[in-house]
Amino acid sequence: MYIDTLVARTIPDTRGRPTVEATLASGAHSVTASVPSGKSTGSHEAFELRDADGSVATAIANVNGESASALVGRDFTSADEIDKLLIELDGTTNKSRLGANAILSVSIAAQRFFALAKGVPLWKAIAERANDGKGFLESVPSAATPAPAFRHVRAERNALEKSLPVASAPRLFLNFMNGGVHADFKLPFQEYILVIEGKTSDAMMIAREAFAKLGERLGSVPMGDEGGYAPTFDTLEQPFELLAELVKEFPHTSIAIDAAASELFHDDAYQLLGKSYSADELSALYRELVERFPIHSIEDPFAEDAPDDFAKLTAELGKRILIIGDDLTVTNPARIKDAAVRKEINAVLIKPNQIGTVREAIQAVQATCAAGWQTIASHRSGETADTFIADFAYGIGAYGIKAGGLGQKERVEKYNRLLAIEQEVKTM
Ligand code: PGA
Ligand code: ZN
Repeated sequence: MYIDTLVARTIPDTRGRPTVEATLASGAHSVTASVPSGKSTGSHEAFELRDADGSVATAIANVNGESASALVGRDFTSADEIDKLLIELDGTTNKSRLGANAILSVSIAAQRFFALAKGVPLWKAIAERANDGKGFLESVPSAATPAPAFRHVRAERNALEKSLPVASAPRLFLNFMNGGVHADFKLPFQEYILVIEGKTSDAMMIAREAFAKLGERLGSVPMGDEGGYAPTFDTLEQPFELLAELVKEFPHTSIAIDAAASELFHDDAYQLLGKSYSADELSALYRELVERFPIHSIEDPFAEDAPDDFAKLTAELGKRILIIGDDLTVTNPARIKDAAVRKEINAVLIKPNQIGTVREAIQAVQATCAAGWQTIASHRSGETADTFIADFAYGIGAYGIKAGGLGQKERVEKYNRLLAIEQEVKTM
């Protein structure tokens, strides 16, 4: 693909804060991509470049200047080649020079462009890339007895191929109630989620009905940053009780939370509803909640720099529920490999903007699969209308997708894209 133009601009995200959108054009075709922005960001994430006034003017200038100079007028054979060049051009370990937001806007646009050029849906192009070019939905080769000399090579290859992602529909991790920094700490934990299993179209029917039902029960309450309800309760258990009622009523559902515990950690303890908890006390609380309620997963149960506490909880609860790393692992392949050695978690949240390129986000997925863990693809609390994360989730065969609540159109668009993918898959 010969790149004719690359141009970026500022657009507002769902919180009205500026973010980066880029358009890449070649011949008669052009594609656009925009990047989301987090609020409860992990300190080990790639660097989001913002100016002192909160704008992304320098990030935009870096796309229109250095990145465009490096790409425009050149021919590329893959999106990966473009990502490699962007990583080299930035030259830092955390994308602090050009900005992860600047780089990711171009990286997503490049991925979209190569899908368009190949004439395949975006999710399929991502599936092929994540599967190391071995093709979409290619099953593990049958174990026909290989010639003795090749036996060990075949065994290694089988092990590798089993650990690669295969495209499939993700479970919905749909945000019903917002707390933490996404709702001025009206609730202590950041996200109260209903996990809905099954085909996207069936899961969405349940989602709409259950979301409306909770709305009726809560009455008039504000919405949080991620399009879930933001009610206030007196006790820690009340949101769990409400979700447990929905689980009773709707089949194929369970409860997930994102504790986002880095945000709860002050003065050497976790602060919840005016009470201080040590890591051990918080562990005891999680165990009690898991006993009492149908809990599927807990994300970031402890602060980002408390890996030992993660490992302890995973040893205690990891056979029953998913313990998901977000701020802990920040979509960074090296951090995920470290976490695997220490068995800190058993699932990883994958957010492309935590690492800054699609290439590295896919490497993070591959590192997660190699550990035998699950991936949950995720949006950010500040979103745009870009639905890339839906194609990404499907393409990497994510176990789940977090795309927010139904109270905000930018979140609903991700689910609508998943519904469209469900139909595209049937015609492939
Ligand atoms: P963030 O929240 O986008 O504000 O980081 C999402 C999450 O913590 O999963
Ligand atoms: Zn999180």
